[in-house]
Amino acid sequence: MQIVNTKSELSVAVSKFNKSGRKVGFVPTMGNLHKGHLSLVSAAFDECDVVVVSIFVNPMQFGENEDLATYPRTPESDIEALSAMNVDLVYLPPVSDVYPGGLTNQTRVVVPGLSEILCGISRPQFFSGVATVVNRLFNLVQPDCAFFGRKDFQQLLVIRKMVRDLAMPVQVHAVDIVREEDGLAMSSRNAYLDSKQRQQAARLNQVLQRAASNYMEYDAITDLERDAREQLASYGFRVDYVEVRRSEDLEQPSGDDTSLVILAAAWIGSTRLIDNREFTVHE
Ligand code: PAF
Repeated sequence: MQIVNTKSELSVAVSKFNKSGRKVGFVPTMGNLHKGHLSLVSAAFDECDVVVVSIFVNPMQFGENEDLATYPRTPESDIEALSAMNVDLVYLPPVSDVYPGGLTNQTRVVVPGLSEILCGISRPQFFSGVATVVNRLFNLVQPDCAFFGRKDFQQLLVIRKMVRDLAMPVQVHAVDIVREEDGLAMSSRNAYLDSKQRQQAARLNQVLQRAASNYMEYDAITDLERDAREQLASYGFRVDYVEVRRSEDLEQPSGDDTSLVILAAAWIGSTRLIDNREFTVHE
């Protein structure tokens, strides 16, 4: 496994892959890899001949009062895990390699509409930060395919829209959520939870799962969302949102829509968790 820290080393390695005509799969990450990330790497190997992973905690997607400074950074164990999976190339750049002109001077990608709802309301900088870095990483890695988790459902749709709108020659693959035994979606931020909070956290998935299966029992979606919010609050969460949306584009569902997703963001103490459940409505 080759590890590079600069875009010039990356471009030398990438041009070798391209010349050999092999199909390149790309998994962008912020490191602190868990089974969720490794499932993206496996999916990339299923689809592609060569797998490139980036590890970069992207400052542009963090707000001023967010956890950029404390975000878990574990490059040694990340490299070990990727090497055990025979990943071909890891790009682990410093901030100066990704934003050589500084963050404020950086040209940005804005994906309108989708970025301004749900998580975009409480994290207004987030999706532009993600789109900007993913666009730059796509340009550097030139992958045929890129792999994103369904856990970050809104992020997945933002990236799909960016790729469509900017006619990027990359196929975006969505990979299923990997959950702990009690159903908590794997996330690097789970490490912030103490043992009591960790137990509480499993309720997030349970509430969403219950709401999705009880969907047909409600006349109004707003009642279902309110009940889910109240249940989360009763388990000690500070709820940011719980919303049912159309899974295709996160618009409000109409009576004809059958592919839906219930999404939530909620705080336990100072940790913000997100999760979602996709479901189909059967008439
Ligand atoms: O999902 C993540 O880990 C990040 O948002 C991503 C896509 C690597 C961009 O920094």
